[in-house]
Order: sequence, then C-alpha cells, then structure tokens
Amino acid sequence: MQEVIVGRVEGATVPKLTIEVQACIEKELWPFYRQFGGKPYQPDILQKAAAEIEELCRILEGEGVTVCRPDVVDFSKDYKTPDFEVPSGMYAAMPRDILMVVGNEIIETPMAWRSRFFEYTAYRSLLKEYFKRGAKWTTPPKPQMGEQLYDNSFFKEEYNGKYITTEFEPCFDAADFMRAGKDLFVQRSHVYILVEAHEIVTNMFGIQWMKRHLGDKYNIHVLSFDDKRPMHIDATFTMIGPGLIIANPDKPCHQLSMFEKAGWKIVEVPRSVVSDQPPWWMSSKWLSMNVLMLDPKRVLVSSIEIPTQKMFEKLGIECIKVDMSYANALGGGFHCYTTDVRRRGTLESYF
Ligand code: NVA
Repeated sequence: MQEVIVGRVEGATVPKLTIEVQACIEKELWPFYRQFGGKPYQPDILQKAAAEIEELCRILEGEGVTVCRPDVVDFSKDYKTPDFEVPSGMYAAMPRDILMVVGNEIIETPMAWRSRFFEYTAYRSLLKEYFKRGAKWTTPPKPQMGEQLYDNSFFKEEYNGKYITTEFEPCFDAADFMRAGKDLFVQRSHVYILVEAHEIVTNMFGIQWMKRHLGDKYNIHVLSFDDKRPMHIDATFTMIGPGLIIANPDKPCHQLSMFEKAGWKIVEVPRSVVSDQPPWWMSSKWLSMNVLMLDPKRVLVSSIEIPTQKMFEKLGIECIKVDMSYANALGGGFHCYTTDVRRRGTLESYF
C-alpha cells in the first residue's frame, strides 16, 4: 500500500436512533442511542480514540505509507433537507463506508443513514486534491432519504425477512463491497433476518447502479451470509490477498463454492477476546477480523487479539500490532477507519 486515507473521530456525534440505525445495532444498545442521539460522544472517550488513531497514522507512515486525513467537521449541528430532518450528523471516522477506489476512480457512495447524509463534506478537500492529481471523481445520485426509502413495517415482527431499505432509489455503502482485481463482491445490507439465497445501507438498485457504472471491465457478484443484521462486509468476509479470505464462523457465506472452485483458501477466524463492550459499541466483536493489509505479507491487527494474531502468523503474515480499544467502540476497526487510495500491482482477474 502506498497511500491511505485515515478517518478522524474529532467532531463525532452519537447518531439519532432512526429506524435505519435501529435495524443495524443490537436492541440492548437502543437506550444509549435514544438518550444520547444527536449529542457529541463524551470528550474523554473521543480523546482516547483520537490518540489511538494518531498512533495508527504514525505506524502507517513508519511503514512507508502516505497518510491523508479528512477535514475536521462539527457533526453535532442539526440539519434539514426538503425530505427529512435529523438532530445531527455522525462522524468522518470511517472512510471505508463512503469512499470506494476502483482503478483511478474514487466513488463517493450515497449511503443510507440520514445522519450520514452530509458526511462527504469532510472529504471534499481531499477529493478535490485527488481530482487535481488526475483521479476520476464520481458521486452517484444522492438519495433523498425520505420516508419512501425505509420500510416502516420492518419492526412489526421479529425476524421478518424484510429489508429496512426499500428499492425507492439507489443507496449503498462502500463497505458492503470488497474487490479482488476485476471482481467486486457485495452484500445487500440492512435486513432483519436472512432472506433465503438473496443478496442482503445497500439495496439492489444501488448494486445495479454500480454494475452499470463500472461496465464490462468489472464483474460484480452478490454474496449473502447467515446474518440477521448485515451491514458492511468487512467483519464477515475479509479479503487478505489474492486467493485468501478470512471468514466469520458465525456468518457462513452462501456462495463459498465460487471461491473454492477458483482455488481460494478460506480460513475461519478465531473468536475475539473482547469481553466487555461499552453501551455505545455499535458493531460486533468481530471487528477483530476488520484488519488492514499493507501488502500480502503484513497486516495491522489489534494488539489485544492474540488468537487472531496467531492465525495470521500461521499463514506466514507478519502482524503489526496497534491498540484500537477506544477507536473500536465507535463502530469500526482498521479496515473501516481507512480507505486505501493507491496500492502497487496491476489489474488482475482471480476468478
Ligand atoms: N456491522 C458489522 C461490520 C462492522 C465493520 C459488524 O458489526 O460485525
């Protein structure tokens, strides 16, 4: 990896517990989000998380990677569009959710959480700079995010097989995609329970938009998993390098055979060692597998996740250990906090 964007937690605000947020986080966390939604996270928590991210940047630079950062934005301001109103934004901590790099193109994804609607503002200085340096800069149609994008009957019954997002307009998060050369893999996310043999903040309209936009040069494959709250693929099925994937044993992939047929190795990840999660920890403990590969032989991994480190060592991959405990609690791991902008290599086909 030659260049990476690392997100920042400064200005981070607890998102309001709108229906699309409810669909993605465990019910036990709802009281926290109900109480604090729209307010900044506690300053001491943010300071500790920011210090971890600064250290992450320092380590990346020490490994020879150029690090770029988004602007500091105060996300606690409320906003209103003709279609919706929310008491605040959220953060610019996770560039992986909003920025997708495909070749020399950087795509600013439309997303589906209303609290994340204006998140792109934090990245605009960087995107203008990339454009000046020759990148193709694309913004797919911005969703209106009115009532029609969300299925209000979603919570009427538990495990109902519905998606929280409708097909009213395209929406997708970059983190529902992963790419291996000419092949992109995507899950349809924000469903309350697994829908049999179906793709699961990403709807089919969004996936179709991407298919048509990228054209014949790339293949988009839709994946699905045993996952009742799919949102972002990178703590479920993480690509480690050509021919190697680490997989979440609790969320088996339904299309494993296509990887096996292509000769890929799939390795199950050991469980995380995290025991206590604070009430604002919005992701699962599987952030332990949300790692960042610097190249096929070097990985950034949480310093406390010894079983995961051992798994990598057995695979002949060197672990660079970084403390991410406070940063993890804001909803992401190394992969979420970063978007790799430039890597060495040529465009290959692995399938
Ligand atoms: N929502 C998923 C992915 C987070 C990166 C999880 O909590 O495991």
